Amino acid sequence: MHVSQPGPTFDVHLDPEWARGALIDDVRRGLGRRPLRLPPRWLYDERGSALFDRITRLDEYYPTEAERSILEREADRIAAITGADTIIELGSGTSDKTHTLLGAFDATGRLQRFVPFDVSEPFLRDAADALNERYPNLHVHGVVGDFTLHVPHLPTDGTPMVAFLGSTIGNLYVEERRAFLAMLGDHLPSGAWLLLGVDLVKPVDRLVAAYDDPHGVTAEFTRNALVVLNRELGADFDVEAFDHIALWDPLHERMDLRLRANGEHHVRVPGAELDLELADGEEIRIEISTKFRIPSITAEVEAAGFRTRQVWTDDRGDVALLLSSVG
Ligand code: SAH
Ligand code: TRP
Repeated sequence: MHVSQPGPTFDVHLDPEWARGALIDDVRRGLGRRPLRLPPRWLYDERGSALFDRITRLDEYYPTEAERSILEREADRIAAITGADTIIELGSGTSDKTHTLLGAFDATGRLQRFVPFDVSEPFLRDAADALNERYPNLHVHGVVGDFTLHVPHLPTDGTPMVAFLGSTIGNLYVEERRAFLAMLGDHLPSGAWLLLGVDLVKPVDRLVAAYDDPHGVTAEFTRNALVVLNRELGADFDVEAFDHIALWDPLHERMDLRLRANGEHHVRVPGAELDLELADGEEIRIEISTKFRIPSITAEVEAAGFRTRQVWTDDRGDVALLLSSVG
């Protein structure tokens, strides 16, 4: 009997109708009052995910290669310490850096399952297919969902390690970050692991270069928020008339990415039944990217019920990886 290689399996927690309702709610809430704000999860449609992938390959955007260098150096050790049989990756995107981890875990002979989890369905499916081909013995189980909502649906059998890389945790506001970590700490069983990648505080000029690159790729990425509203909700934003602004906020120690209106704009957003008057120079907040200090992020993780076992940085001290266990 011919037994065909089983393909990846998927759970979809975000059906298109629900997602559209959530987008409309977010737009009404975010653009219906001042300061204007759009939640970042809508940045990652197909075009946004492709633009982000280009950002990770820019010389100015140091976090990707810095994190990769730690993973390459420490992956075997991480596999040995955790003994995990399941890797769950939140905000997995292309899962590019994760190959390093999977290779090391695979070599232990214990790895059974990889669960990439992302809002962006097309990218998730491509990544899952590629991984399935590369690791034929691994069960690849993709989850389409929102990690601020659907953590309670993550599998907890076996010994799972949740990887949350790329400082995506820095894109959450303080109170969202606390709620997210608490939810994760509550949901994961004792014996589970968290591998958390964070970007560290560093001189402002490097941060600004990373989030306002001279090629304008990051600007295209933030402007994509308006492209999405034009397409999904029939809005008439004059996208090119918005400037990408990357500010360092020293109080909160985070980059603050905004779009600033060039001239006055009257914008209609029929899909959300919204009309918007923008003054010349008015800004829409698109995304934050918090930069961390090792002692305070360690304390936050511990407050959510984790114990941090190891902290690694890259040679330049640009980014950190924390390995923590539940309990
Ligand atoms: N882990 C990759 C990608 C980081 S970019 C890396 O380290 O390079 C952030 C990723 O998180 C994107 O793939 C985006 O689609 C996803 N994402 C953003 N908000 C999300 C949310 N609320 N729920 C699930 N995934 C989300
Ligand atoms: N989490 C990454 C970071 O904060 C990726 C990211 C999110 C990003 N939004 C961005 C990178 C905007 C550049 C521009 O760096």
